[in-house]
Amino acid sequence: MTGLSAVEKAVSEAKELVAQELKRLGSRALASVERPRQREQGDLAFACFAAAKELSRNSKELAEKMAAEITPRLGEEFARCEAVNGFVNFFFSEGLLDSAVSEALKQGPKYGSGTEGNGKTVTIDYSSPNVGKPLHVGHIRSTILGDSIKRLLRLRGYNAIGSNYLCEAGTQVAMLLVGLRKYGATNIRDEKELVDYYVRINKEIEGNPELKEEVRTALEGMEDGDAQVEKELKRVRELSLAPLEKNYELLGVSFEEEIFDSSLSLPAKAAAAEAVKKGIAFKDKNGETVADLEHYGLPNLVILRSNGTTLYSTRDLALADWRWKKHGFDKCIYVTGSDQNAHFRQFFKILEILGRPYSKRLQHVGYGLISLPEGKFSTRKGRIVFLSDLLDDATQEAKNEILARRQKTEERTGEEYSEKEMNKAAAAVGVGATKFAFLRVGADKNIVFDTKRVVSFEGDTGAYVQYTLVRCRNILHKAGELKPALKGGMQEEERRLARTLADYPLTMKAAARSLAPHSVCDYLLKLCADFSSFYESCPVLKAETKQAAVRRLALVKTTATVLENGLEILGIVAPKKM
Ligand code: ARG
Repeated sequence: MTGLSAVEKAVSEAKELVAQELKRLGSRALASVERPRQREQGDLAFACFAAAKELSRNSKELAEKMAAEITPRLGEEFARCEAVNGFVNFFFSEGLLDSAVSEALKQGPKYGSGTEGNGKTVTIDYSSPNVGKPLHVGHIRSTILGDSIKRLLRLRGYNAIGSNYLCEAGTQVAMLLVGLRKYGATNIRDEKELVDYYVRINKEIEGNPELKEEVRTALEGMEDGDAQVEKELKRVRELSLAPLEKNYELLGVSFEEEIFDSSLSLPAKAAAAEAVKKGIAFKDKNGETVADLEHYGLPNLVILRSNGTTLYSTRDLALADWRWKKHGFDKCIYVTGSDQNAHFRQFFKILEILGRPYSKRLQHVGYGLISLPEGKFSTRKGRIVFLSDLLDDATQEAKNEILARRQKTEERTGEEYSEKEMNKAAAAVGVGATKFAFLRVGADKNIVFDTKRVVSFEGDTGAYVQYTLVRCRNILHKAGELKPALKGGMQEEERRLARTLADYPLTMKAAARSLAPHSVCDYLLKLCADFSSFYESCPVLKAETKQAAVRRLALVKTTATVLENGLEILGIVAPKKM
């Protein structure tokens, strides 16, 4: 492992200086440093407000005093430290920027990695679709977000396990089975047809108690291993799993384990029985078994139907036990839509009351919902965009864009682009732009999904990041024998770029801690903007001196490395040409 990066060492150094100063002043405030948003505020900052309050002092004066005391003790990592409006701001020295850039050059794909996760296991439940329903845009968010969180955690040393929980034991699948029976559907070509049947039975079941009863019986059959139901289920599974695999392949997403909820019926029943025995759950007047969560400030939760069959919630109890037994995780993360927030709070609470030793290690990441400009997605109402169609559209759009650009380049350079290369690039850009569009948005925010905007190459898109990387590679290619080397002092735009490059390991550390791939996107966009201004004002291969040329080349190479590493964390492939 690489240990601490130069910048991480500088962070500890700044913390140490602040801590010493706080101690001298008699404050017990936390010596934490943040990374300011505005560049003028330096590279690291300590906010004096808590300490000022504790010591009954004016924060502005306290910051000035601290900065004055710290200044003579600054190590070579820092150029200076200043007090501004109650903050002590630290500025990295050029030496530190040099070390960070050399480190990146040396580490290559390892740059940005960390060790804080070493020896820790995290399971991540993502994608976890319902069998019998094709992946649609509503699922893409969990799939992409979870995959990126896994990559982030791995980068920082965690043993991160992607776990796909395939749900087929629920009412939806039972309804589908009943529908297929009723409509005599023997010849189903693909998963999309399954949706048509699902939509149809859904409409018909409203106000039809007989059909509802048949669904209940099908659910019982699933849990009791009824041969006929099993056969029907197997068929639905076969129809939907192959296309699912294909979608994962297109997205470049994989899992370390797969588990079907139907395998959990028995342990789920046992968990429900345990809850009753421990007095946590009771049978209500309708014969349903309900977990009593009211005096924990949560709504009660049904864990067994009156016919004794399990529910989504019951099976989640058993799933958590299963994962704990298998992995002994340090953390178990679930990535789903925030419409399930209550469900997770409820079953986490039940596990806590049941005394599960791991209950505090469970964490739910609920993301905002995705809607179309015309309204919410709903499989039931047939308002869905299939993932495969979406990616096809995006790829086609990307191809048009590339074609237009290539024409210009080919006229200029005479360089040809084969059909095969073109298709490969279009797929990389189309899928990449789609993924980026989803990852860019913080998990808590909703997304109104507008296909046109997602694949647009204008503005803050994944295509822009990919394009910047292709530009860097072109420069490196043209540089031929010229070797990148950090020599001489930097110009303002170079320093600005170097600072952003140096910040990469800190960004990744923070993003992993808060499970936030969107901050990786923000970072990459900022890096591209900095690179762009650097490239405008600092010619590389036509630099005024050879020293400047090799130095700038080092910055280009590092930018390429960081863009590659960052895109890898988002699960986005960069094409060779665009
Ligand atoms: N299959 C569920 C859905 O599509 C998501 C499952 C999430 N994972 C879990 N352990 N509950 O809504």
